Amino acid sequence: MTKKKRPAASGRRAKRALPTRSMLAAMSALAREARERAHAPYSRFKVGAALKTRTGEIVTGCNIENASYGLSMCAERVAVFKAVSEGLDDFDVIAVVADSKRITPPCGPCRQILWEYCGDVLVHMTDLKGRSRTLRLGDLLPMPFDAGHL
Ligand code: THU
Repeated sequence: MTKKKRPAASGRRAKRALPTRSMLAAMSALAREARERAHAPYSRFKVGAALKTRTGEIVTGCNIENASYGLSMCAERVAVFKAVSEGLDDFDVIAVVADSKRITPPCGPCRQILWEYCGDVLVHMTDLKGRSRTLRLGDLLPMPFDAGHL
């Protein structure tokens, strides 16, 4: 029998090296570029994301809306699903860029999706003026529900 891989969301703090400031800036730049590709004709609120593996692969995403509004997809989830579908794992950072008065954090469903596939990643949030905040996903999603509860 093959050994079942433990899900990323094990509830443990990542103990490895933190990304450098220049890495975070580079990821925000990629998220900002991805944001330009957002399809957001209904909300007109464009969001970009860039998700990184510990080995340095970066996958971007933007929000993609639909006339049937509930089918719209957030930038963070697009990035996660793209990355997972390409066989990537072991993520350590997601950068999120939006244009709002207050820094835009991932929405609730995105936090749950991030926890499942990325575990306790750093979430680096930036606005178009370059203001940023960096928090752990575990601080944005305290007491998460995950595979450990099943
Ligand atoms: N949105 C994201 O893509 N990510 C977030 O973190 C917050 C919200 C999108 C969903 C929708 O297309 C638009 O922003 C307005 O809610």
